[in-house]
Amino acid sequence: MSTVAGILNSSLGRKFVMAATGGLLCLFVVGHLVGNLQVFGPPELINAYAHFLQSKPVMIWGARIGLLLVVVLHVVTAVQLSLANKDARPVAYASKVPYGSTWQSRYMLGSGIVVAAFILYHLAHFTALLPGINGVGDFSKLKTVLHGETVADVYGMMILGFQVWWVTLFYLIAQASLFIHLSHGLASLFQTFGLRNHVWWPRIQRFAQGASLALFLGYAVIPIAIYVRVVGADYAGQKTAELKAAALVAAGTPADKAATK
Ligand code: HEM
Repeated sequence: MSTVAGILNSSLGRKFVMAATGGLLCLFVVGHLVGNLQVFGPPELINAYAHFLQSKPVMIWGARIGLLLVVVLHVVTAVQLSLANKDARPVAYASKVPYGSTWQSRYMLGSGIVVAAFILYHLAHFTALLPGINGVGDFSKLKTVLHGETVADVYGMMILGFQVWWVTLFYLIAQASLFIHLSHGLASLFQTFGLRNHVWWPRIQRFAQGASLALFLGYAVIPIAIYVRVVGADYAGQKTAELKAAALVAAGTPADKAATK
C-alpha cells in the first residue's frame, strides 16, 4: 500500500478528508447563496448571472464534476468513520445521556441525510427541470429576452417554484438541517486541523454557530419572501398567464390558481 493510500485509510486521514471536503462544500454554499440573493434585485440580474454561468460549459461542467467528487468523498468517508466508530465500541454506552456533546453533534447523520435528499430533489427541481416534481409545470419552457437573446428565465423559475407551499416547506426543512449540520461540522473542521485549545475552542464554536445561522437566514429568506409575495408577485402573475396560455402550467396547481384569480 502506498503512503498516500495508507494515510487515507487511517482514521486520521479520513478525518482530514472529511474536513477538507466539508470546507470546500461550505465555500460552495456561501458562493451559491451570494448568487441566489440576486433574486431580490430586478429579474435581469439573476438571469444574466445564470446565463453567464450556462454559457461557459467547460467551466460549469468542470465545477459540477469537481463538486460531485467532493460530495462522494465526503459521504463515503462519513460512512467509513461511523462504521469504524461502531466497530471500536460494539457494546453501547450504559448511559443514554450524552456527555460533553452539543445537540447538533448528535444529529450529524440525520441532518446529513436530509441535506443529501434535498440536494437530489434540488438538482431535479432547478437543474434537470423535471416537470413532474415541481407542482407547477414545465420550467424548461420558461424563457426571457436578455439583450436581444432568448435565455432561460431562472428568476421566473424561482418565483413560480416557491409559490408551491410544500416545495417551500421542504426547502425550509432542508435549510434547518443544513444549519444543524454546519454548526457542528464547521467547528469540527477547525478541530481536525489542530486549532482546538481552551482559548480558541469557545470562539470557534461561536463562529460556527453564527456563520451557520447567517447561512440559514440567507437561504430561508428566499423561499419565504417569494411565498408571501414580497418578491416577484407581479412577475408570477404575468409568467403564469403566459405559461397557461401555452398550456404549460398543470391545471389545479398553485400557479394555475394564481393565474385565474
Ligand atoms: C433557497 C435555497 C436555494 C435556492 C433558491 C437555490 C437555487 C438554485 C438554482 C436556481 C439553481 C440552478 C441554477 C441554474 O440553472 O443556473 C441551483 C443549482 C444548484 N444548487 Fe441551489 N439553491 C438553494 C439552496 C441550495 C443549497 C442549500 C445547496 C447545497 C447544499 C444547493 C446546491 C445546488 C447545486 C449543487 C446546484 C447545481 C449547480 C449546477 O447547475 O451545476 N442549493 N440552485
